[in-house]
Amino acid sequence: MKPCFIFGTRPEVIKVAPVYLYFKNQGENAIAVATAQHREMMDMMLQVFDMEPDYDLNVMTHNQSLNSIVARVMERLEPVLLKESPDIIFVQGDTTTAFTAALCGFHLSIPVAHIEAGLRSGDLYDPFPEELNRRLIDVASKYLFTPTKRAKENLLKEGIEEKRIFVVGNSVVDALEYVKSKIDMNSYRERLVALDDYILLTLHRRENIGEKMRSVLRGIAQFIDEVDLRVVFPVHKNPRVREIVNQEVGNNPRFILIEPVDYLQFLSLLDGARFVVTDSGGVQEEAPSFGKFVVVARQTTERPELIEAGFGLLSGTSQESIYKALIEASQNRLCISENPFGDGKTSERIYKITRGEGI
Ligand code: UD1
Ligand code: UDP
Repeated sequence: MKPCFIFGTRPEVIKVAPVYLYFKNQGENAIAVATAQHREMMDMMLQVFDMEPDYDLNVMTHNQSLNSIVARVMERLEPVLLKESPDIIFVQGDTTTAFTAALCGFHLSIPVAHIEAGLRSGDLYDPFPEELNRRLIDVASKYLFTPTKRAKENLLKEGIEEKRIFVVGNSVVDALEYVKSKIDMNSYRERLVALDDYILLTLHRRENIGEKMRSVLRGIAQFIDEVDLRVVFPVHKNPRVREIVNQEVGNNPRFILIEPVDYLQFLSLLDGARFVVTDSGGVQEEAPSFGKFVVVARQTTERPELIEAGFGLLSGTSQESIYKALIEASQNRLCISENPFGDGKTSERIYKITRGEGI
């Protein structure tokens, strides 16, 4: 079997790496193609998993537009797929890389497997453009690997045939368990921040860039000022995010602004945090494994399992709603229990299903 794994951003590497490495360890002739939609942040993650792509399409440009990413990936991926002629291509999640690679595979009649299929926020514009990307990828895919039963139900409601859908869990749990077994979280964290008590924050969503991101930051600033708490904030490399962050909280000493950190470092920060505020998808799935409460700083989530399991709340993005959510989060005490998104065996299940071995 010749599977081809295509990825381009930080979260795709984290979630594709365990599956790719599982295939490699079984002796399969797996090929890794990096679009490098993210340059530095993708490379950082490849190092963590000791992964070296067979092809690097190097598409990222400063402040890139969505259409320009599609155009560059389309043009540079096709010759690779024609040359390698894989039996199946794997894409993950809902990025522009994932959507474009799925379309490219579909055009060339190569079966597409979608890791993390079936997530839906129900609002085509939130997250933007990810909600459209994930719907389009699901329609084009032969194998739909969903993290949860709810994601499977979403697909069935859209009329997708049941025989294409497999509930396998989310490979992010495979990734984080691999990392947890590798390092001592406390000593790792101590090298990064000398703080016992802090909130961990990440923000990057395109649809929040502008007033929404500003009001989220103001709500957090208001809260931490009153309770005398610090926020550790690895700031995404997107220049539009950085501009807002610098303007809003660049001079606020309670915000510890740092560069994006590698996955080992990020999980050690998550492990030590009081709770987490984020608009990230992946962080919502990781926090339960560390018993951390999540304030989802967005209008919608495609991961309602988090909230239903009592691990988080959807705060919206106004200053007032963020402030109230932080008060609620700081009163919440969680302990580590089962992660609703996976059990660490997702890669093995995906391997067996695509090999026709069942699960
Ligand atoms: C992308 C994904 C989003 C995912 C996020 C993960 C799409 C449409 N969006 O959004 O789903 O949640 O990645 O972080 O695919 N940049 C760098 N270096 C890097 C990475 C980014 O300089 O390593 C800068 C570049 O100027 C780039 C900009 O950030 O143009 C935006 O990157 P892009 O991939 O277009 O969008 P994200 O918001 O990161
Ligand atoms: N992450 C990381 N370093 C950081 C910030 C995040 O390793 O400085 C990891 C985090 O653990 C999660 C993933 O990056 O697995 C989330 O990426 P991002 O928020 O960029 O994308 P999303 O999940 O929203 O698509």
